[in-house]
Amino acid sequence: MDDHIRFDHQNLELHLLDQRFLPERESDFVCRTADDVISALQTMVVRGAPAIGVTAAWGCVLALKDAQGPDWAARLELGMERIASARPTAVNLRWGVERMRNKWKSFGGANIDQSALLTAFTHEAQTMQDEDVAICKTLGRHGATCIDDGDCVLTHCNAGALATAGYGTALGVIRAAAEAGKKISVIADETRPFLQGARLTAWELARDGIPVTVACDNACALLMSKGMVQRVVVGADRIAANGDTANKIGTFGVALLARHFHIPFYVAAPLSTIDPVTPDGGGIPIEQRPDREVTHVGETRLCPKDVPVYNFAFDVTPAEYISGIITEKGVLYPPYSLSIWAALNDLNTG
Ligand code: MRU
Repeated sequence: MDDHIRFDHQNLELHLLDQRFLPERESDFVCRTADDVISALQTMVVRGAPAIGVTAAWGCVLALKDAQGPDWAARLELGMERIASARPTAVNLRWGVERMRNKWKSFGGANIDQSALLTAFTHEAQTMQDEDVAICKTLGRHGATCIDDGDCVLTHCNAGALATAGYGTALGVIRAAAEAGKKISVIADETRPFLQGARLTAWELARDGIPVTVACDNACALLMSKGMVQRVVVGADRIAANGDTANKIGTFGVALLARHFHIPFYVAAPLSTIDPVTPDGGGIPIEQRPDREVTHVGETRLCPKDVPVYNFAFDVTPAEYISGIITEKGVLYPPYSLSIWAALNDLNTG
């Protein structure tokens, strides 16, 4: 699955597989403007840190298309900033926009030919999309060495092809282990309230023929206590300089349980998910999403009217609970301040 983010070059439209309707329906959400992209990001048509980074890059192409008139540069700047701010936690979103801004800056001067910039933006967005698939495959091969033949791997949320440009991070590790001939199975936490595990992870793995069983989030302790889980591999939305990792709400609880039961807990993420200017998890902004995701399933109300709910979309797992961070540069081990710094500075992480 690597065609869920598709740019129609002829009509300058971004086609996104609408993840809100999976697994029931496969239909596209078409973005013709930067506003459409912002709406797709905020309503989770497309989600998952690397996927939203790539989508943001295509959003910049549409922001440039939208930016008309003598003040087009100011309009483009505004459009790009609005895309970068569409969701707060996944650092890849701003990273994607910054990379496009750097492309723009590389043109220099005020008298830029807008159509030449459009060509350059389109090329850059496509490069980022292609690179992301390649990074996931490399990362997956590194991570596969952490999985033993016969393991049952528990994962939380969806860090699969749908959450990236293709192949996936946590699911990339699982796919690579399966491709290496290891007989593995997966437990997908259902991942309340948006059900990325039940709906998306299960859908992807079933399509690939990798054995997957969905479990309620609150079954985790029982499954681990029964010896039914040998490894945990999850994705990440933002990794601070010390290794503290923001990922889907519930991940921290899984990590605590894994520590209790002596089960290795890995985070799989590209280097673009590392935020070296945020020293630790305390500085990571945590998105709060609409109450309705918790209070309703479809049109059915689950909670009494007027009772407040919490809908924090992410939590932060402290670095001390993470056995290794699997990246395209290899598996990073504690102390993460050093191994992350070395990976980002292209040094041998040994
Ligand atoms: O709210 P979402 O669905 O965008 O959250 C996604 C996650 O938390 C994923 O686990 C994370 O982005 C890793 S995706 C490769």
